[in-house]
Amino acid sequence: MDSAIPAFTRALAESAGELIKKERAVLESLETSYKDGVELVTHADIAADKFICDAIRKAYPEHRILAEESAPDMRDISSFKGPLWIIDPIDGTVNYAHGHFQSAVSIAYAEGGRVHCGVVCNPFVAETFHAVLGQGAFLNDKAIKVAQKTELRRALVATGFPYIKGDMTPLVRRLALVLQECADLRRLGAASLDICWVAMGRLDVYYENLSVWDFAAAQLIAREAGARYGHFKPVPEGISEEFHHQNILVANETLYPAMHDLLNRADAGQV
Ligand code: IPD
Ligand code: CA
Ligand code: CA
Repeated sequence: MDSAIPAFTRALAESAGELIKKERAVLESLETSYKDGVELVTHADIAADKFICDAIRKAYPEHRILAEESAPDMRDISSFKGPLWIIDPIDGTVNYAHGHFQSAVSIAYAEGGRVHCGVVCNPFVAETFHAVLGQGAFLNDKAIKVAQKTELRRALVATGFPYIKGDMTPLVRRLALVLQECADLRRLGAASLDICWVAMGRLDVYYENLSVWDFAAAQLIAREAGARYGHFKPVPEGISEEFHHQNILVANETLYPAMHDLLNRADAGQV
């Protein structure tokens, strides 16, 4: 990785963070619509996406960009090995559009099929998480570590739910068992921050189905903070472990297998 990329990525995420904060200074002035009639999007999602992509194209014109609002085609992502930027301009748009503080800009840089640098910036509480592969994870420049709880009954668990309302039965089964066997549950509404919060100990476990821009940066931050990041169902052949977007599970080394077992028991109907 070009040695300038980590500082560039961080500055870019923080500038985009300022942009989304400014655009929401007057909540009533936000322009909102629904993608495919379902998924909320604001003019700030589009503006931040453009701001980030323009800056990357200027600095690294040869690099490929995967960005939620302007370039969301992730079909060949598992086989692509060149320089790649993965961007969620606002993760937590529903929170953002309702005036909540749990929203973030997420930018990841990958090459050789692995994320090498990730930044997740929540401008509303002035928190920036960052990590570089092999160099640890940080919140506002202070090293972070995953919490060391050992029992699910003491664990605070977070998850999320899809915008498209399909069959909710498996999700409800998982919830039922989580509520029975874990300490409590949160649905905070920004997956990148959920994963970063596991990385720094505000949460103990996180699981969900996502899109690659939701987790690309945060998964590196979690791993570098000592969390185990993986999937609670087998990763399909031909799909890279790094970018597989379904059945994501993040926890410390002790809670991970316990939660893996719980979710599979739920799916087997043992509720
Ligand atoms: C969403 C958030 C949410 C998660 C959804 C994501 P968006 O991202 O991360 O927590 O449950 O699956 O789509 O739409 O706000 O960028
Ligand atoms: Ca997102
Ligand atoms: Ca988004």
